[in-house]
Amino acid sequence: MFTALLESLPFPPRIPLMGGPTPIQKSRLAWNDDSLYWKRDDLTPYGLGGNKLRKLEFLMAEALSQRADLIITSGASQSNHARLTAVVSAMLKLPCVLVIPGEIPTEWNGNLLLDRLAGAEIVACGEEPLDKAVTRISNARKSQGYHPYTIPLGGSNALGSMGYFLAFFELLKQAEEQGWVPRTLACSVGSAGTLAGLVAANAFLPQPLRIVGVSVWQSADQLRPQVETLAIDILSLLHTPCPLAPFEIADQFIGPGYGLPTQESSEALIECFRTDGILFDPVYTAKGVAAVKHLLQHEPRKCPEAIVFWHTGGGPAVFDKHYYTDLLRYT
Ligand SMILES: Cc1ncc(COP(=O)(O)O)c(C=O)c1O
Repeated sequence: MFTALLESLPFPPRIPLMGGPTPIQKSRLAWNDDSLYWKRDDLTPYGLGGNKLRKLEFLMAEALSQRADLIITSGASQSNHARLTAVVSAMLKLPCVLVIPGEIPTEWNGNLLLDRLAGAEIVACGEEPLDKAVTRISNARKSQGYHPYTIPLGGSNALGSMGYFLAFFELLKQAEEQGWVPRTLACSVGSAGTLAGLVAANAFLPQPLRIVGVSVWQSADQLRPQVETLAIDILSLLHTPCPLAPFEIADQFIGPGYGLPTQESSEALIECFRTDGILFDPVYTAKGVAAVKHLLQHEPRKCPEAIVFWHTGGGPAVFDKHYYTDLLRYT
């Protein structure tokens, strides 16, 4: 299925970080009659997994082709993207600088601990906007003789998001082999690359899937043009411009803000851990699951269908004190 299409497209080079397709797990939760599947990108091979490995396959290949000798990226202190960038940099024997907002942490837990174990240098930029700090640090390292490669927030440029263009077809192939048909795809949305990759790939289907992105941060009005631009850029990198199919963005599950759990997300995280044995991220994937639960319980449907929630990882964040303290309130 789509083999000829995929073989004909001019994909940029990538380094292998995936080790094969990630598993699909049928949920035991009974939120309605639909079949709910988890696409387990939390089980990608390295550094405790997550969606960023698919992006790093392309981004790190570009870094190597440019003979970079330093990787720089940024993110929140519990960034899953920063953790996986640190781990893959270490595996490639490249030093890595992670730029985080605020002050240097006093407690090294969750992803921050793993960043340190991976040998990353962590630079806190205080009140300075992250993008400005990254440019400043990159220029400073250049003047010291380094040749840095900068990865954008969340690895979400067109090149990195290409990873989710490929992932979409991986899912379709697996579902076909298993004898079921996905109709709705949902995922959490931060910097938009994951959703954009899926939306770009959906453009090739004669009958596109319903795709729902659950925002953990920005409003739907802010996100929509970002996703569209990224998806169009992916298609033009592949020299195959074609019209995008409609997609949905749900922004009513953000709660008090980025990085802050909600009662629904914390309860969904615990329910899934107890029922399906899967650990979600408290502020990315758990908000996505809370949205899927709401959709299944409240949306009238004509017939049962197969829904896939893309588990983009992030479990290690539960070992951050703020997050586990919150979660313990619901146990
Ligand atoms: C666990 C997890 N899920 C989803 C996302 C969102 O992915 P994207 O930034 O591609 O929108 C992130 C982003 O960092 C994440 O860490």
